[in-house]
Amino acid sequence: MLLEVKDLNLWYGEKHVIRGINFNLEKGEVLCLVGESGSGKTSILYSILGLLPEVAKLQGSIKFMGKELIGLSEREYRKLRGRHISIVFQEPSVYLDPLFKIGVQLEEAYRAHFREGNPKEKALEALKKAGVPDAQRVYNSYPHHLSGGLKQRVCIAIATICNPELVLADEPTTALDVSVQSRILKLFRDMKSEGRSVLLVTHDFGVVAEVADRVIVLREGQIVEEGSVYEIFDSPKHPYTVELLRAI
Ligand SMILES: Nc1ncnc2c1ncn2[C@@H]1O[C@H](COP(=O)(O)OP(=O)(O)O)[C@@H](O)[C@H]1O
Ligand SMILES: [Mg+2]
Repeated sequence: MLLEVKDLNLWYGEKHVIRGINFNLEKGEVLCLVGESGSGKTSILYSILGLLPEVAKLQGSIKFMGKELIGLSEREYRKLRGRHISIVFQEPSVYLDPLFKIGVQLEEAYRAHFREGNPKEKALEALKKAGVPDAQRVYNSYPHHLSGGLKQRVCIAIATICNPELVLADEPTTALDVSVQSRILKLFRDMKSEGRSVLLVTHDFGVVAEVADRVIVLREGQIVEEGSVYEIFDSPKHPYTVELLRAI
């Protein structure tokens, strides 16, 4: 098992936002966390990567490749982030630094974990794998020269350049034009064929239909339903799932 989350509870101050969550993620699996805004999806991803704010109190267990993550020092999390677990955010412009060319940002992500190898080669290779058509041009561009869809491909290249076992994604296509959404989603499917696991957060069952192997439906910090993508679409058991499905 790549990731094992057991009895996870999270409070922001007095507010109990994740309430006793259990789930597993296997190698090469694409798992979607679905739920409406405020159900705790982002908080789960941040719990895994150690990105919670000071006010947060986290309890339970998150094991990654057999190792407990809760309680790791910031130094240990830095070794993990990007190298073994990476994240793609909803809004690529927020993540990319406007002052640096794409190539520099990709090479920096690589150099954070590797001394050997040729960073430029790795950067171009990561861009090509992320479906960037003119990798050399994009390598030499600043973020503001690129469309939203291209910027998100760059973020995916950054997230995969160190070949992590697990990629987290927080509504990665919500900010993009509908026309580019499914092409971006396909990249998450491609990760699976490279043996990576993906934990993808969305409020959109259309996204689930395109990428998921398995689905977890979250409501107010609890799992209300879990199953294969076929089970969830063909015979949803919980009325909340039926309601979410009706939205597509
Ligand atoms: N830093 C924070 N401080 C206090 N409450 C927060 C913080 N971040 C999120 N919350 C609250 O936690 C709940 C879950 O939020 P979040 O994980 O962002 O849900 P989702 O990603 O499903 O929209 C919401 O009620 C939200 O208002
Ligand atoms: Mg969110």
